[in-house]
Amino acid sequence: MSTTSISDQEFAQFQRFIFEAAGISLSPAKKTLVSGRLAKRLQHHRLGSYGEYFRMLASAQAGAEVQTAVDLLTTNETYFFREPKHFELLREQALAARKRVQAFRVWSAASSSGEEAYSIAMVLADCLEDGPWDVIGSDISARVLQRARAGHYSIERTQHIPRSYLQRFCLKGFGDQEGTLLVERSLRARVQFMQVNLNAPLPRLGAFDVIFLRNVLIYFNAETKRQVVGRVLSLLKPGGYFCIGHSESLNGITDAALPLAPSIYRKPQADAAR
Ligand SMILES: C[S@@+](CC[C@H](N)C(=O)[O-])C[C@H]1O[C@@H](n2cnc3c(N)ncnc32)[C@H](O)[C@@H]1O
Repeated sequence: MSTTSISDQEFAQFQRFIFEAAGISLSPAKKTLVSGRLAKRLQHHRLGSYGEYFRMLASAQAGAEVQTAVDLLTTNETYFFREPKHFELLREQALAARKRVQAFRVWSAASSSGEEAYSIAMVLADCLEDGPWDVIGSDISARVLQRARAGHYSIERTQHIPRSYLQRFCLKGFGDQEGTLLVERSLRARVQFMQVNLNAPLPRLGAFDVIFLRNVLIYFNAETKRQVVGRVLSLLKPGGYFCIGHSESLNGITDAALPLAPSIYRKPQADAAR
């Protein structure tokens, strides 16, 4: 591990870098975290200071290294069936949509390594079986998306998966895969992962019945939250549901979705919005 320390000026450069790249606001308290996470890149490139690494990122040839730095500066903590109330809501909505012809569509908009998107897919496969439904998982970090597509997790991360879902949708590793779990191929095939920066114009993803935007707004300042929530809500169908993290709130951020319960919002139906 490098023992190089980061100066206040160098830290300010990385604060600006990650704000411009992802909209993430890093408080001064994150200085040690930033130097710790980037230290291995200094070593890798044999650089003597964080300033040199910043200049490397700012140079025209830095494409892949910029992605690596974004990967390192994002926080990707997640687990299966985190915040269970949202999955109860999802189940109710999926069951109510059972006879519908249109696909029931859900977006995990900061999916990290995929646990959230696969939890959603397990509920939809249970309620809607082979009926038309889609799950999209997206994140800005290429590294976590690679893990998400693999769908291969350490058993410790899977303790909240209901037992019947473990039996139906997961394969337990044996031999050199002992202690791991693989999301079953047919479920993996129903979840599409893609790289999406929520702090930039969104690609065409279509409209969703339910959107999970959980535990990512905490990293944004009020103005970035407003912009991100506005963009994301433009893809929620009228009457659709919007779930954020339990420690987050849309107070003062938007009135395009109305609070139903803590961390659960609903976009008014088209005729009610008039
Ligand atoms: C703490 S994880 C939350 C994962 C999951 N939603 C949950 O609640 O368990 C936050 C995720 O947001 C992603 N993220 C941060 N800024 C982003 C941005 N501008 N666009 C898309 N994803 C972003 C990070 O890469 C990280 O994987």
